[in-house]
Amino acid sequence: MSERILVAVAWPYADGPLHLGHIAGAYLPADIFARYHRIKGNEVLMVSGSDQHGTPVTIKAEQDGVTPGELTAACHRDFLESWRRLGISFDLFTTTGTENHAKVTQDIFLKLLEGGYIYKATVSQPYCPQCRRYLPDRYIEGTCPFCGSTAARGDQCDDCGKPMNPGEMVDPRCRLCGGAPQFQDSEHFFFKLSAFQGQLNDWVKKQSKKANWRANVTNLTMRYLKEGLRDRAITRDIGWGVAVPVKGFESKRIYVWFEAVIGYLSASKEWAKSSGDGEGWRPFWEDDKARSYYFIGKDNIPFHTLIWPAMLMGYGGLNLPYNVPANEFLTIEGKKLSTSRNWAIWVPDYLSRYEPDPLRYLLSINMPENGDTDYSWREFLRRNNDELVATYGNLAHRVLTFTYRNFEGRIPEPGEMDKQSESIINSATETLNNMDSLLSQCHFKQAIMAGMTLAHEANRYLDDKSPWKVIKEDRQAAANSLYVALNVISQLKTMLCPFLPFSSQKLHEYLGFAGRVEDCGWNWQDLPAGQKLLEPKPLFTKLDDKLIDEETARLGQVNC
Ligand code: MF3
Ligand code: ZN
Repeated sequence: MSERILVAVAWPYADGPLHLGHIAGAYLPADIFARYHRIKGNEVLMVSGSDQHGTPVTIKAEQDGVTPGELTAACHRDFLESWRRLGISFDLFTTTGTENHAKVTQDIFLKLLEGGYIYKATVSQPYCPQCRRYLPDRYIEGTCPFCGSTAARGDQCDDCGKPMNPGEMVDPRCRLCGGAPQFQDSEHFFFKLSAFQGQLNDWVKKQSKKANWRANVTNLTMRYLKEGLRDRAITRDIGWGVAVPVKGFESKRIYVWFEAVIGYLSASKEWAKSSGDGEGWRPFWEDDKARSYYFIGKDNIPFHTLIWPAMLMGYGGLNLPYNVPANEFLTIEGKKLSTSRNWAIWVPDYLSRYEPDPLRYLLSINMPENGDTDYSWREFLRRNNDELVATYGNLAHRVLTFTYRNFEGRIPEPGEMDKQSESIINSATETLNNMDSLLSQCHFKQAIMAGMTLAHEANRYLDDKSPWKVIKEDRQAAANSLYVALNVISQLKTMLCPFLPFSSQKLHEYLGFAGRVEDCGWNWQDLPAGQKLLEPKPLFTKLDDKLIDEETARLGQVNC
């Protein structure tokens, strides 16, 4: 029976281009998962969008001398282009700037207010007398009240990871002028997160077991629960963001995190409307057999395992997250990624020089699933040349070109199968089942390794059978082993399609199929003997060693 899967992916701040940390952390695993479920014939809805509010955006716009609207529109266009070229297959990638998003956010806000889960309180807010403005979260720097780090930002300390309310920070300074802020009274709304402590505790315990959450996700969430949940201010004294739907709050906006997570729901509604059935979002959110997976980086865990679930509990009637397979971080050449120091690899820059599949391959087989992993250009080159080109690409190319030249460009007619042939076919079927189970549990790294192991085995099979030698005495024997090898690469194109969609599509066409590789389904299908092949070309390109020095020299250069 077909399943319904919501693939909800973190909303990137529209304050600059995407880098490999974004891709490895959330977008690639989400895309692999969505593609896998589509091949399985399941109903998938994959949504996200630009997070266009928040201080990261306003600070960057100020630095660049543009309006936040101009900055976010330009970034959004770049995001869409990156998704297209990298093959990240969203059903909808929208923005938090739509009227629909504001409406859905305000509806949730008002319902939670009505239910008593949102309340008003007067708080003292940092105000910079020199700059004559209230200072939102990230406009304040100072000392963390929890760990003593001197690099804390108003909303969170990056060193100990703890969130804080503005005002708790020790020795605060204005980020714009360095002066000491004053504190002034201001009325704000608070979300009563504390009211959900018991319910969340029960739910996290049950759901993390049921869906087999990753250890880092469960542990971090349980740590917050043990420390006790505190109410959070959800409005700010700023002018850029979603309006507060209450009289007297015209000069304030809803806090970016409160509305950004609502984007998953508002985007689902927007997708439904644009696909012609305005109610089409409901089965994904209201049917309790539907499952939702939230693909995010580890810094966003509590927002998705505690705050968003609490908002949904207070609102009622909608599915809570099924799983939150958060990834850890990607380091670059052994160092922590830093956008300000340009210690990052930018997606548009990568795509200006290389194909998408080699990157997807490396980030899949080296995915930061259970701990941080490192990206290096040496590893990129090695994985491309030794694994994609020499193992998988070479297997496909040898089989296809030899068959094309010696069997009139058609899939040969098989005769009787020997033991060795049966064994490689069994191996392929097992790998298909094994990868099925691994992918359904979000074990992406193990899944792609299983696929590559099969490619290795198939290479050995082909070497043993050596149809290029055998053909001189026994044409049928050569036909048999080529038929088997063609079937195995045909299975590989399916198994590897979630990871390497572009080369899978090519292979699909070289094997003589029309249409999309995704539509073949996730099961063994004998190739039709006699089917006409398309003249094959290599699936991957060998890269030159000199790229290592060229690319590493680009890292850390500011002003480019
Ligand atoms: N914009 C936030 C970030 O990049 C992530 C938001 S994910 C959300 O950290 F969906 F919760 F908004
Ligand atoms: Zn100031």
